[in-house]
Amino acid sequence: MLTMVTALVRLFVLFIPAYVANGAPVLLGGGCPVDLGKRFIDGRKLLGNSKTVRGLIAGIITGFAAGAVLGVWHTHLFLFNDRICYALAGLLEGVGAMVGDMTGSFIKRRLNLKEGDPAPIMDELGFLIMATVFLFPILSQLTFTIEVIHYFLVLIITYVLHKSTNFLANRIGLKKVPW
Ligand code: CTP
Ligand code: MG
Repeated sequence: MLTMVTALVRLFVLFIPAYVANGAPVLLGGGCPVDLGKRFIDGRKLLGNSKTVRGLIAGIITGFAAGAVLGVWHTHLFLFNDRICYALAGLLEGVGAMVGDMTGSFIKRRLNLKEGDPAPIMDELGFLIMATVFLFPILSQLTFTIEVIHYFLVLIITYVLHKSTNFLANRIGLKKVPW
């Protein structure tokens, strides 16, 4: 039990930059959309007005910064073999989270879903799954191996956390819809 909890906590710490990158655009985003208002061949918006350049940049920079801060605690965390990996992981997670988020929006627009319409699982987990994919190049530098069962538990917990934080963000006026 204790080893399971330790493994989960370690994974959550590893993914802190992805969570930060995912949350940052809600607070710091706005303005010009990434797709510049352009439309796809189906006549619908490419990504939609919710994916803004400022949000994208904020996600990448805060992800990188979160990774760099984790690196300061290297001797305590010991997630990677080298201190330099943390900032790199943060950057990769930040970019991955943003790519996952935008991929979700791209798919939603193709399905004729408007900005803010819910797309279960994709909305909650797309960022984390893509952040994980982007981490692949430096996974060999991890001091531990990620067990599939632990990763699935992280996804489930993230889903629940995402639902609750979005509900809260809606209640305090940060988000228009509670999902
Ligand atoms: N946001 C942003 N830039 C991004 C991503 C998000 O500015 N690259 C901001 C927008 O204000 C957006 C909010 O964060 O409304 C919430 O993001 P999200 O839930 O991903 O957007 P949705 O409005 O649900 O749009 P979509 O249907 O495309 O997911
Ligand atoms: Mg949404």
